[in-house]
Amino acid sequence: MVITPHAAVRGFLNHGNRRFAPLGSSASIDRSDFATFCGRDQLGPGPGVKAVVHDRYGSPDVLRVEEVPVPSPAAGQVRVKIAATSVNLSDWECLRGSPAYARIDGLRFPARRTLGSDIAGLVDDVGEGVTQFRPGDEVYGDNLRLKGGFAEYTLAPESALAHKPDQLTFVEASTIPQAGAIALQGTKGAGTGRRVLINGAGGGSGFFAIQLAKRLGAHVTGVDNASKLDFMRSVGADRVIDYRRDDFTRTSQPYDLILDLAAHRSVLAYRRALAHGGTYRCVGGSVSTLLRLLTVGRLVGGLTGRAIGILAVQEGPAHFEPLAALCTTGDIQIHIDRRFALDEVPAALAHVGEGRASGKVVVVLS
Ligand SMILES: NC(=O)c1ccc[n+]([C@@H]2O[C@H](COP(=O)([O-])OP(=O)(O)OC[C@H]3O[C@@H](n4cnc5c(N)ncnc54)[C@H](OP(=O)(O)O)[C@@H]3O)[C@@H](O)[C@H]2O)c1
Repeated sequence: MVITPHAAVRGFLNHGNRRFAPLGSSASIDRSDFATFCGRDQLGPGPGVKAVVHDRYGSPDVLRVEEVPVPSPAAGQVRVKIAATSVNLSDWECLRGSPAYARIDGLRFPARRTLGSDIAGLVDDVGEGVTQFRPGDEVYGDNLRLKGGFAEYTLAPESALAHKPDQLTFVEASTIPQAGAIALQGTKGAGTGRRVLINGAGGGSGFFAIQLAKRLGAHVTGVDNASKLDFMRSVGADRVIDYRRDDFTRTSQPYDLILDLAAHRSVLAYRRALAHGGTYRCVGGSVSTLLRLLTVGRLVGGLTGRAIGILAVQEGPAHFEPLAALCTTGDIQIHIDRRFALDEVPAALAHVGEGRASGKVVVVLS
């Protein structure tokens, strides 16, 4: 897939703020505000449900558990009774409002009051026109547009969801959608004998990426902090680097493919680390690095026989179900670092955001 700078920035920013369409309108101002904050297009009658909410950007201290009305599904939407929601670094970024792209929808206040996009649970109700799901179905998906997974119920567009494989628990299924899409697309081009480096490989996407690249026959180097070196080895990395001690860009054996989940270096450093004909793709990192990659990176790559740029990850079941299939057969292992309860969401987000998690962290609802 050829990514133009414009498309890449749009894709990346859409990812960062997790909203792809305007919210539905609501009759009364109060309910409309409420819908906006909850990330729900409509609110239904009935008893309240528990949700973790925030009204401003900040540390996990700004989060609190609130009782909110049960949301009603609009046309094309599915209401899911949440069983598990995995935490992604993007949840932390949207809580903090940093990097800047996390504020693209709400410069001063969060556009979505309840975070959590990688959901798994039971279909509870469906809106008009929904054909693939009915109440009682077990589903999972990356609810990029509406989020709301850190709650007892949320709404999701039908197109974001897939039927959960019977072989996976809800907790396991919730780890796959976003991290799986990143790992599958980020390791495209890995192959027998190719030298692949994954920067940030000990986190939620990285441990899937290590395993996928190994399955394709690549020689894999994983980079992360010292506490995650053993973990990266345990999922198959041939070589590991502690980024606080060693600089992977200063290498005598450059890499054919670099997947960067935490990009903060200069374009010239990345060019130095790449073999002739090699490819560097950034998925996450600082905004300034991203912009440099899109401009100088493309130029330097083009002039030196390398491809340097960012990966705008495509979402949806087609992009994560292949990984789920490999997990059901046991070809790819799911590693869950820790589980948290709904009222522990602040601690769960901090665990991921402060870099303490090896693999995935999941919020489990009873
Ligand atoms: N481009 C797109 O379309 C797209 C789509 C989805 C997600 N994303 C982005 O993808 C990124 C990765 O997500 P994830 O869920 O895999 O994150 P994650 O679970 O937090 O993993 C990132 C890992 O990188 C490590 N790290 C931090 N700084 C590092 C450095 N300087 N060098 C090497 N490793 C470093 C972290 O550990 P420590 O912090 O402990 O060091 C952590 O283990 C996020 O920024 C997310 O926003 C992009």
